[in-house]
Amino acid sequence: MPNEEKILQLIAKAEQEHTLKKEELTCLLASSQAEEPLAAAADHVRQKFVGDGVHLRGLIEFSNICRQDCMYCGLRRDNQRLERYRLGADEIVGLAEKAKGDGYHTVVLQSGEDMYFTAERLAGIIRRIKALDLAVTLSVGERSFDEYRLWREAGADRYLLRIETTDREVYEKFDPGMSYDNRVRCLRDLRTLGYEVGTGTLVGLPGQTPVSIAEDILFYQKLDADMVGIGPLIPNPDTPLGSAPKGDFHLTRRMVSLLRLLLPEANIPATTAMETMVPHGRELILASGANVVMPNVTEGDSRRKYALYPGKICVADTPAQCRRCMGGRIKAMGRFIAEDKGFRKHRRDLSI
Ligand code: 5AD
Ligand code: FES
Repeated sequence: MPNEEKILQLIAKAEQEHTLKKEELTCLLASSQAEEPLAAAADHVRQKFVGDGVHLRGLIEFSNICRQDCMYCGLRRDNQRLERYRLGADEIVGLAEKAKGDGYHTVVLQSGEDMYFTAERLAGIIRRIKALDLAVTLSVGERSFDEYRLWREAGADRYLLRIETTDREVYEKFDPGMSYDNRVRCLRDLRTLGYEVGTGTLVGLPGQTPVSIAEDILFYQKLDADMVGIGPLIPNPDTPLGSAPKGDFHLTRRMVSLLRLLLPEANIPATTAMETMVPHGRELILASGANVVMPNVTEGDSRRKYALYPGKICVADTPAQCRRCMGGRIKAMGRFIAEDKGFRKHRRDLSI
């Protein structure tokens, strides 16, 4: 069978059945020819299952202090070149209030693994934000079941924790001192506690292959992930991976499209890293299967200091500018900003 025909057949199968075998996924991930037809099929499936609404999540980066030492991340504890900051409870709640005033329905509280924020302390902040009638997503790394439980009881709705890669060896090499099993334990605990669970891949870790990325996608399907956020590695010169090659934008785009085909009702963001790499990258990704954007609603100097990687977009803008800018861009694509809290839809509730 000619290659092109085989590719189109596989894509048609994924579009109809939402399943592919590991070898089939690998073949599509590795094929640049597959990219445009994959994006077109994913855009169609996105429209059919989750519609034209784009969900905005306001990202509050409340501390860049981290106890971990991931080899790619600017927040790693050994990076002495980063000016550290931590926002107070009132500042965090104030940013959430402003986000609400700017029309956001969800805030994402993200930080390094900063143990100053004990379970109790963060629970207090969550309760105050929930009183504003916002959905609350947490993204603060690995904690115990009991800590996750307290936050859930305080009202947290969702939790983001990327697995980064399902290749255990690659994971443990670039996340030294961390265990792959504990990461999976965290995702299971979050699931058990009834959070909407978001996870995802860092594309471009040295040693990662199309086969391991195919395995990531199957892992997300098995976990029944509610959200999957992926982005390419952007080497940070202040980290040990500073001179690694950057992640492949096109491979990442094909992965987004395949995620939409295999997890049709999931929430899939067009991530900031995609746009840092390619101007208007987020629009391209929104047209390739994605339905979520997470504009930064942190204010002032903290925006610059939350430096996971260099060249991060919008660090000089205000939250209101970002919101206007993204709103205009979404409308120009013929899409609209969704006005609900954007919980994950389930196929059983859709008339498909
Ligand atoms: N390039 C791209 N993404 C990165 N992250 C951390 N460092 C980098 C980098 N250098 C991603 C990780 C993490 C998320 C919050 O940011 O995947 O889970
Ligand atoms: Fe921040 Fe456009 S999204 S300025």
